[in-house]
Amino acid sequence: AALAGVVEYRNVTFAYPGAESPVLSNISFTARPGQTIAIIGSTGAGKTSLLSLLPRLYDPAEGQVLLDGVPVDRLDRAEITRRVALVPQRPYLFSGTIGHNLRFGKTEATDQELWDALLVAQGESFVREKKNGLDSRISQGGTNVSGGQRQRLCIARALVTKPRVYLFDDSFSALDVATDARLRAALKRTTSDATVIIVAQRISTITEADQILVLDNGRIVDRGTHEELLETSPTYQEIVES
Ligand code: GTP
Ligand code: MG
Repeated sequence: AALAGVVEYRNVTFAYPGAESPVLSNISFTARPGQTIAIIGSTGAGKTSLLSLLPRLYDPAEGQVLLDGVPVDRLDRAEITRRVALVPQRPYLFSGTIGHNLRFGKTEATDQELWDALLVAQGESFVREKKNGLDSRISQGGTNVSGGQRQRLCIARALVTKPRVYLFDDSFSALDVATDARLRAALKRTTSDATVIIVAQRISTITEADQILVLDNGRIVDRGTHEELLETSPTYQEIVES
C-alpha cells in the first residue's frame, strides 16, 4: 500500500519565483491507481505548471501536493523519481545511443526491458529498422530523429523505470491519430494499475479518461467525463469545436 501511487492536489496555489500573480489557483483533485486523469485547456492555462509540482520542479505557495498521503516536500527526491515518471512537453534526448537514452532513469535495465518498452511506445519497428538497433547513435538534442520518434523514445524511457505514476505532458501531439490510439491502448494494458495523468491538446486522446479537468487561466473550471462535459461545460465544448 505504501507504493500505491495515489496523487492528491489539495487547494494548490502556485506562482513562479518573482512573478506577481499565480499561474495556478486553488487546484484540487485526486488521481488513483488504475485511473487516467486528463488535463485540457488553452495554451498558457497552466497545464505544464500543474504537472511540475508533483516531481517538485517547483513547490506550491499554498496548499499541498501529496503522494500516497505524504506531502511531496517530505519525500526524498530519489524516492519521488522512483515512483513518478514525467514525460516533458519538450522531450529531451542526449548525445549517445538509443540504449543509453532509454536507460537514463534505470541504468541496470536489460535489452529485453528496453524492447518491451519500445513495443508499448510504438517505437519498436523504427529502432529495429536501424542498422545498429539499440546501439544506434542519437545526436545531441535528438536532431537525427523525428519529433514523433523523439516522443516515443521518451515515453519508452518512462516505461523502463516502471513507475507508479505517469505524467504525460502533451506527449502524443506529434503522433498521427492512429499511432496515438495504438500507443494509448498498449499503454493502458501495461500500466493498468498505475496512475496516469495526461495533458493533451487533442480531444480524441482523452475521451476515455476517467476524469477530465478543464483548466482555464490557472483554475479548474469544470471536471467530469467526456460525455458529462459535453453536456455541462461551455469551455469544454469550445475546445471540442476548435
Ligand atoms: P501550453 O503548453 O502552451 O499548452 O501551456 P500550459 O497550459 O502548459 O501553460 P504553462 O503551465 O506552461 O504556463 C502557464 C503560465 O505560466 C503562462 O502564463 C506562462 O507564461 C507562465 N510560465 C510558464 N513557465 C514559466 C516560468 O518558467 N517562469 C515564469 N515566470 N512564468 C512561466
Ligand atoms: Mg505546457
